[in-house]
Amino acid sequence: MTGQRAAHYHAPTGRAEPAFADRAADAGLPLRARRHRPREVLRRVRCGLALACAQCRAELPAGARFCPDCGQPAAAPPSVPAAAVVAAYDFAGTSTLVDIGGGDGSLIATILAAYPQMRGILFEQRDVLDSARVTLEREGVRLRCTLVAGDFFQAVPEGGDAYLLKDIIHDWEDERALVILQRCRQAMRADGKLLLVERALPAGNAPAAGKLIDITMLTVTGGCERTQLEYRDLLARAGLDLIRVVPTASEMLIVEAVPV
Ligand SMILES: C[S@@+](CC[C@H](N)C(=O)[O-])C[C@H]1O[C@@H](n2cnc3c(N)ncnc32)[C@H](O)[C@@H]1O
Repeated sequence: MTGQRAAHYHAPTGRAEPAFADRAADAGLPLRARRHRPREVLRRVRCGLALACAQCRAELPAGARFCPDCGQPAAAPPSVPAAAVVAAYDFAGTSTLVDIGGGDGSLIATILAAYPQMRGILFEQRDVLDSARVTLEREGVRLRCTLVAGDFFQAVPEGGDAYLLKDIIHDWEDERALVILQRCRQAMRADGKLLLVERALPAGNAPAAGKLIDITMLTVTGGCERTQLEYRDLLARAGLDLIRVVPTASEMLIVEAVPV
Protein backbone atom coordinates (compact mmCIF):
# COMPACT_ATOMS: atom_id res chain seq x y z
CA MET A 1 0.00 0.00 0.00
CA THR A 2 1.42 3.40 -0.99
CA GLY A 3 1.71 6.29 1.45
CA GLN A 4 -1.14 7.98 -0.39
CA ARG A 5 -3.41 5.00 0.18
CA ALA A 6 -2.26 4.44 3.74
CA ALA A 7 -3.73 7.85 4.57
CA HIS A 8 -7.13 6.69 3.31
CA TYR A 9 -7.50 3.47 5.26
CA HIS A 10 -7.72 1.86 8.64
CA ALA A 11 -5.03 -0.63 9.61
CA PRO A 12 -5.16 -3.87 7.58
CA THR A 13 -7.11 -6.71 9.14
CA GLY A 14 -4.45 -9.33 8.39
CA ARG A 15 -6.96 -11.30 6.29
CA ALA A 16 -5.24 -13.38 3.63
CA GLU A 17 -5.40 -12.13 0.02
CA PRO A 18 -8.21 -14.11 -1.70
CA ALA A 19 -7.44 -16.11 -4.82
CA PHE A 20 -8.14 -14.39 -8.13
CA ALA A 21 -11.17 -16.60 -8.84
CA ASP A 22 -12.67 -15.64 -5.47
CA ARG A 23 -12.10 -11.94 -6.14
CA ALA A 24 -13.72 -12.34 -9.57
CA ALA A 25 -16.68 -14.03 -7.94
CA ASP A 26 -16.90 -11.25 -5.34
CA ALA A 27 -16.84 -8.67 -8.13
CA GLY A 28 -19.83 -10.36 -9.76
CA LEU A 29 -17.99 -11.36 -12.92
CA PRO A 30 -19.76 -14.14 -14.84
CA LEU A 31 -18.46 -17.67 -14.35
CA ARG A 32 -16.87 -17.86 -17.78
CA ALA A 33 -15.04 -14.57 -17.25
CA ARG A 34 -13.32 -16.01 -14.17
CA ARG A 35 -11.11 -18.11 -16.40
CA HIS A 36 -9.20 -14.99 -17.53
CA ARG A 37 -5.79 -14.57 -15.99
CA PRO A 38 -5.19 -11.36 -13.96
CA ARG A 39 -2.80 -10.00 -16.62
CA GLU A 40 -5.53 -10.40 -19.24
CA VAL A 41 -8.05 -8.69 -16.95
CA LEU A 42 -5.64 -5.75 -16.56
CA ARG A 43 -5.11 -5.50 -20.32
CA ARG A 44 -8.81 -5.60 -21.00
CA VAL A 45 -9.80 -3.06 -18.35
CA ARG A 46 -7.12 -0.60 -19.47
CA CYS A 47 -7.99 -1.15 -23.13
CA GLY A 48 -11.71 -0.79 -22.56
CA LEU A 49 -12.43 -4.32 -23.74
CA ALA A 50 -15.18 -6.10 -21.85
CA LEU A 51 -14.65 -9.49 -20.19
CA ALA A 52 -18.17 -10.53 -21.04
CA CYS A 53 -20.85 -9.17 -23.33
CA ALA A 54 -22.88 -6.46 -21.57
CA GLN A 55 -26.00 -7.65 -23.40
CA CYS A 56 -25.99 -11.46 -23.21
CA ARG A 57 -23.04 -12.11 -20.83
CA ALA A 58 -21.28 -14.45 -23.28
CA GLU A 59 -17.51 -14.59 -22.90
CA LEU A 60 -15.70 -12.37 -25.40
CA PRO A 61 -12.54 -13.63 -27.11
CA ALA A 62 -9.47 -11.39 -26.63
CA GLY A 63 -9.65 -8.44 -29.01
CA ALA A 64 -13.29 -9.09 -29.96
CA ARG A 65 -15.06 -6.02 -31.35
CA PHE A 66 -18.47 -7.64 -31.40
CA CYS A 67 -20.03 -10.37 -29.27
CA PRO A 68 -19.92 -13.68 -31.18
CA ASP A 69 -23.24 -14.72 -29.60
CA CYS A 70 -25.52 -11.67 -29.97
CA GLY A 71 -23.50 -9.42 -32.32
CA GLN A 72 -23.55 -6.37 -30.03
CA PRO A 73 -20.43 -4.11 -29.80
CA ALA A 74 -17.94 -5.45 -27.25
CA ALA A 75 -17.22 -2.21 -25.36
CA ALA A 76 -17.60 -2.06 -21.60
CA PRO A 77 -20.87 -0.37 -20.57
CA PRO A 78 -20.56 3.14 -19.10
CA SER A 79 -20.18 3.09 -15.32
CA VAL A 80 -22.75 5.83 -14.57
CA PRO A 81 -25.59 7.29 -16.53
CA ALA A 82 -24.26 10.03 -18.80
CA ALA A 83 -27.50 11.86 -18.06
CA ALA A 84 -26.20 12.70 -14.56
CA VAL A 85 -23.29 14.62 -16.10
CA VAL A 86 -25.50 16.42 -18.61
CA ALA A 87 -27.96 17.41 -15.89
CA ALA A 88 -25.23 18.74 -13.58
CA TYR A 89 -23.01 20.71 -15.94
CA ASP A 90 -23.86 23.58 -18.28
CA PHE A 91 -22.01 22.93 -21.55
CA ALA A 92 -23.69 25.90 -23.26
CA GLY A 93 -20.40 27.79 -23.83
CA THR A 94 -18.71 24.77 -25.39
CA SER A 95 -18.63 24.62 -29.18
CA THR A 96 -16.22 21.68 -29.57
CA LEU A 97 -15.96 19.05 -26.87
CA VAL A 98 -13.14 16.48 -26.93
CA ASP A 99 -13.86 13.26 -25.04
CA ILE A 100 -10.50 11.70 -24.18
CA GLY A 101 -10.76 7.92 -23.86
CA GLY A 102 -14.44 8.27 -24.66
CA GLY A 103 -15.07 4.51 -24.63
CA ASP A 104 -18.26 3.41 -26.38
CA GLY A 105 -19.32 7.04 -26.95
CA SER A 106 -22.26 7.00 -24.53
CA LEU A 107 -21.25 10.17 -22.71
CA ILE A 108 -20.38 12.38 -25.68
CA ALA A 109 -23.44 11.11 -27.58
CA THR A 110 -25.69 12.14 -24.69
CA ILE A 111 -24.05 15.58 -24.46
CA LEU A 112 -24.20 16.18 -28.22
CA ALA A 113 -27.87 15.17 -28.24
CA ALA A 114 -28.55 17.73 -25.50
CA TYR A 115 -26.59 20.52 -27.29
CA PRO A 116 -27.53 20.45 -31.00
CA GLN A 117 -25.02 23.22 -31.92
CA MET A 118 -22.06 21.44 -30.35
CA ARG A 119 -19.46 19.42 -32.24
CA GLY A 120 -17.51 16.58 -30.69
CA ILE A 121 -14.23 14.74 -31.05
CA LEU A 122 -14.08 11.27 -29.55
CA PHE A 123 -10.47 10.22 -28.99
CA GLU A 124 -9.86 6.53 -28.34
CA GLN A 125 -7.77 3.52 -29.13
CA ARG A 126 -8.50 2.30 -32.65
CA ASP A 127 -10.07 -1.00 -31.53
CA VAL A 128 -12.65 0.80 -29.41
CA LEU A 129 -13.79 3.26 -32.08
CA ASP A 130 -16.08 0.74 -33.80
CA SER A 131 -18.34 0.51 -30.78
CA ALA A 132 -18.32 4.32 -30.42
CA ARG A 133 -19.36 4.68 -34.06
CA VAL A 134 -22.33 2.38 -33.43
CA THR A 135 -23.41 4.43 -30.38
CA LEU A 136 -23.09 7.78 -32.16
CA GLU A 137 -25.07 6.54 -35.13
CA ARG A 138 -27.76 5.05 -32.89
CA GLU A 139 -28.09 8.37 -31.01
CA GLY A 140 -28.26 10.38 -34.24
CA VAL A 141 -25.15 12.50 -33.55
CA ARG A 142 -22.56 10.73 -35.71
CA LEU A 143 -22.31 13.60 -38.24
CA ARG A 144 -21.33 16.06 -35.49
CA CYS A 145 -18.63 13.86 -33.94
CA THR A 146 -15.19 13.14 -35.36
CA LEU A 147 -13.60 9.86 -34.32
CA VAL A 148 -9.85 10.08 -33.76
CA ALA A 149 -7.65 7.06 -32.98
CA GLY A 150 -4.56 7.56 -30.86
CA ASP A 151 -2.67 7.12 -27.63
CA PHE A 152 -3.25 9.68 -24.88
CA PHE A 153 0.29 9.14 -23.60
CA GLN A 154 1.59 10.50 -26.92
CA ALA A 155 -0.76 13.34 -27.96
CA VAL A 156 -4.44 14.26 -27.95
CA PRO A 157 -6.33 16.29 -30.58
CA GLU A 158 -6.12 20.08 -30.62
CA GLY A 159 -9.11 22.24 -31.46
CA GLY A 160 -11.45 21.66 -28.53
CA ASP A 161 -12.56 24.29 -26.11
CA ALA A 162 -13.32 21.65 -23.47
CA TYR A 163 -11.52 18.38 -22.77
CA LEU A 164 -13.54 15.73 -20.97
CA LEU A 165 -12.01 12.71 -19.22
CA LYS A 166 -14.44 10.38 -17.48
CA ASP A 167 -13.08 7.44 -15.51
CA ILE A 168 -9.67 7.92 -17.12
CA ILE A 169 -7.36 9.40 -14.49
CA HIS A 170 -8.36 6.91 -11.78
CA ASP A 171 -7.11 4.06 -14.01
CA TRP A 172 -3.54 5.23 -13.58
CA GLU A 173 -0.92 5.85 -10.91
CA ASP A 174 0.22 9.47 -10.47
CA GLU A 175 3.13 9.56 -12.91
CA ARG A 176 1.13 8.03 -15.78
CA ALA A 177 -1.97 10.12 -14.95
CA LEU A 178 0.24 13.20 -15.02
CA VAL A 179 1.42 12.43 -18.57
CA ILE A 180 -2.23 12.20 -19.76
CA LEU A 181 -3.02 15.57 -18.16
CA GLN A 182 0.13 17.12 -19.65
CA ARG A 183 -0.87 15.89 -23.13
CA CYS A 184 -4.27 17.53 -22.64
CA ARG A 185 -2.68 20.74 -21.41
CA GLN A 186 -0.42 20.81 -24.50
CA ALA A 187 -3.44 20.46 -26.79
CA MET A 188 -5.60 23.03 -24.97
CA ARG A 189 -5.92 26.69 -25.87
CA ALA A 190 -5.18 29.25 -23.15
CA ASP A 191 -8.93 29.79 -22.68
CA GLY A 192 -9.79 26.08 -22.79
CA LYS A 193 -11.03 23.98 -19.90
CA LEU A 194 -10.55 20.45 -18.73
CA LEU A 195 -13.28 18.42 -17.05
CA LEU A 196 -12.52 15.30 -15.04
CA VAL A 197 -15.48 13.12 -14.20
CA GLU A 198 -14.36 11.01 -11.27
CA ARG A 199 -15.29 10.03 -7.75
CA ALA A 200 -13.43 11.96 -5.07
CA LEU A 201 -12.55 10.31 -1.79
CA PRO A 202 -13.38 12.17 1.41
CA ALA A 203 -10.28 13.39 3.22
CA GLY A 204 -9.24 11.46 6.33
CA ASN A 205 -9.81 7.95 7.49
CA ALA A 206 -13.62 7.79 7.37
CA PRO A 207 -15.35 4.85 5.66
CA ALA A 208 -16.51 5.63 2.10
CA ALA A 209 -17.82 3.53 -0.78
CA GLY A 210 -15.19 5.08 -3.09
CA LYS A 211 -12.47 3.41 -1.03
CA LEU A 212 -13.71 0.00 -2.15
CA ILE A 213 -13.39 1.18 -5.73
CA ASP A 214 -9.94 2.48 -4.84
CA ILE A 215 -8.92 -1.02 -3.75
CA THR A 216 -10.35 -2.39 -7.00
CA MET A 217 -8.31 0.13 -8.99
CA LEU A 218 -5.19 -0.83 -7.04
CA THR A 219 -5.63 -4.54 -7.69
CA VAL A 220 -6.94 -4.39 -11.26
CA THR A 221 -5.34 -1.41 -13.05
CA GLY A 222 -2.74 -0.10 -10.60
CA GLY A 223 -4.63 3.21 -10.48
CA CYS A 224 -6.41 4.82 -7.54
CA GLU A 225 -9.25 7.03 -6.42
CA ARG A 226 -8.14 10.45 -5.15
CA THR A 227 -9.32 13.20 -2.85
CA GLN A 228 -10.15 16.64 -4.24
CA LEU A 229 -6.84 17.89 -2.84
CA GLU A 230 -4.97 15.12 -4.63
CA TYR A 231 -6.70 16.07 -7.89
CA ARG A 232 -5.77 19.71 -7.27
CA ASP A 233 -2.11 18.76 -6.77
CA LEU A 234 -1.97 16.47 -9.80
CA LEU A 235 -3.63 19.09 -12.02
CA ALA A 236 -1.23 21.77 -10.76
CA ARG A 237 1.73 19.59 -11.73
CA ALA A 238 0.30 19.53 -15.28
CA GLY A 239 -0.06 23.34 -15.38
CA LEU A 240 -3.79 23.33 -14.64
CA ASP A 241 -5.67 25.19 -11.94
CA LEU A 242 -8.66 23.45 -10.33
CA ILE A 243 -11.33 26.16 -10.27
CA ARG A 244 -14.45 24.31 -9.12
CA VAL A 245 -15.99 20.94 -8.36
CA VAL A 246 -19.53 20.31 -9.58
CA PRO A 247 -21.52 17.51 -7.88
CA THR A 248 -23.79 15.26 -9.92
CA ALA A 249 -26.81 13.22 -8.88
CA SER A 250 -24.54 10.17 -9.15
CA GLU A 251 -21.42 9.37 -7.12
CA MET A 252 -19.33 11.22 -9.70
CA LEU A 253 -18.03 14.76 -9.44
CA ILE A 254 -17.02 17.06 -12.28
CA VAL A 255 -13.64 18.61 -11.55
CA GLU A 256 -13.12 21.69 -13.70
CA ALA A 257 -9.64 23.05 -14.38
CA VAL A 258 -8.16 25.77 -16.59
CA PRO A 259 -4.60 26.49 -17.78
CA VAL A 260 -2.55 28.30 -15.14
C1 LIG B 1 -12.41 3.07 -17.86
S1 LIG B 1 -12.63 3.34 -19.58
C2 LIG B 1 -13.58 4.85 -19.59
C3 LIG B 1 -14.36 4.99 -20.85
C4 LIG B 1 -15.32 6.19 -20.88
N1 LIG B 1 -14.63 7.45 -20.66
C5 LIG B 1 -16.43 6.00 -19.85
O1 LIG B 1 -16.38 6.60 -18.79
O2 LIG B 1 -17.31 5.18 -20.11
C6 LIG B 1 -11.00 3.89 -20.07
C7 LIG B 1 -10.91 4.20 -21.56
O3 LIG B 1 -9.60 4.68 -21.86
C8 LIG B 1 -9.22 4.17 -23.12
N2 LIG B 1 -7.76 4.12 -23.20
C9 LIG B 1 -6.94 3.33 -22.48
N3 LIG B 1 -5.66 3.57 -22.81
C10 LIG B 1 -5.69 4.53 -23.79
C11 LIG B 1 -4.68 5.20 -24.53
N4 LIG B 1 -3.39 4.93 -24.31
N5 LIG B 1 -5.05 6.14 -25.42
C12 LIG B 1 -6.38 6.42 -25.62
N6 LIG B 1 -7.38 5.82 -24.94
C13 LIG B 1 -7.04 4.88 -24.04
C14 LIG B 1 -9.83 2.78 -23.12
O4 LIG B 1 -9.96 2.26 -24.43
C15 LIG B 1 -11.14 2.97 -22.41
O5 LIG B 1 -12.22 3.20 -23.28
